[in-house]
Amino acid sequence: MRCRRCRKPAVIEIRRHNAAFCAPCLEHHCREQVARAVHDFAMFEPGQRVLIAVSGGKDSLGLWDLLLDLGYAAEGLYLGLGIEGAGGYSDQSAAFTHAFASRRDAPLITVDLPADYGYDIPGGAAAARRAPCSACGLSKRHLFNRAALDGGFDVVATGHNLDDEAAVLFGNVLRWNTEYLGRQLPVLPAADGFVRKVKPLVRLGEREMAAYCVVRGIDYIVEECPMAIGNRHLGYKEALNAIEDRSPGTKQVFYFGFLERASAHFRPAATTAQEGLHPCPSCGSPTTAAQCAFCSLVSRARAGGAEAGAGAGAEVGVAGAGAEMGVAGAGAEMGVAGAEAEVTEVAVPGPRRVR
Ligand code: AMP
Ligand code: FES
Ligand code: ZN
Repeated sequence: MRCRRCRKPAVIEIRRHNAAFCAPCLEHHCREQVARAVHDFAMFEPGQRVLIAVSGGKDSLGLWDLLLDLGYAAEGLYLGLGIEGAGGYSDQSAAFTHAFASRRDAPLITVDLPADYGYDIPGGAAAARRAPCSACGLSKRHLFNRAALDGGFDVVATGHNLDDEAAVLFGNVLRWNTEYLGRQLPVLPAADGFVRKVKPLVRLGEREMAAYCVVRGIDYIVEECPMAIGNRHLGYKEALNAIEDRSPGTKQVFYFGFLERASAHFRPAATTAQEGLHPCPSCGSPTTAAQCAFCSLVSRARAGGAEAGAGAGAEVGVAGAGAEMGVAGAGAEMGVAGAEAEVTEVAVPGPRRVR
């Protein structure tokens, strides 16, 4: 197999492009695809301040690397979620993120849920009787938004790639979640209380990002989050992978076809869901409820923690809830884009700049 650009031996084949690349040309390809997504969807301009939500995984670290090399002012944001698992999932993710930030000498902001907000994802999910991925998605959306607004950033970028977006779309179509379909866009413009959100990796797949990191010598956490294993979203990914295997290019056609030909039809459902937003009485973030979902999660998690102590953690056996709660799927399927109505703030210690 030879590289499509330079004819040297290839290190990766990308069947949906009917192409293969050697290491330097793979780097070029990834940079080109990100530059094209940023340009085609008018995500941000040179000179604007971009906050990248970095999980320590291949996508977000790869994205950070790519945006820095493309000359953007990209700073990182890491959230410590307090997830244990084998080897300490959150600790390891933090270590990879810090290592990358210092290698590239790039600014990194950190927020630690247990230290700053008094709960971790397993405990918060149990106390609020939400599936872990739902509590996690809600916390992330809120805290990404808050950190960006507090830090004066123009935009928040996440590492959602083509595989992620196609799987989210697949899940939303299977359930005809019209509201989420109306919001599943690579760019969500800023609105009152909401910072602009973008997904510059929508033109790149998971394998390309993994290969990119290997070629660039970027160490990342390989394990899936232990709380996500077996969730619906991963099932959708597997199903799409089986289809893609037989018909390369299906994911890309599915996702970009949706953006071009279907997405606008769902916009009214998303707009209706946004009506009636008012500031949360506790934190001031826009919400449609009496108290925003994040403040309510924080207060329940704190109350649960105080009442049940470590017992709350044990109750995560409610994890079964994950299997059952539409919310779990919903959380995963909305990605960062979704649940804008639930993105909220709470008056507790803010982010720390560590570099
Ligand atoms: P996930 O929801 O885990 O698939 O992650 C989607 C995107 O959210 C990642 O590509 C990151 O941009 C961001 N993200 C996930 N986890 C974290 C975290 N702990 N801290 C900051 N950003 C995160
Ligand atoms: Fe959110 Fe695992 S990263 S539940
Ligand atoms: Zn609130």
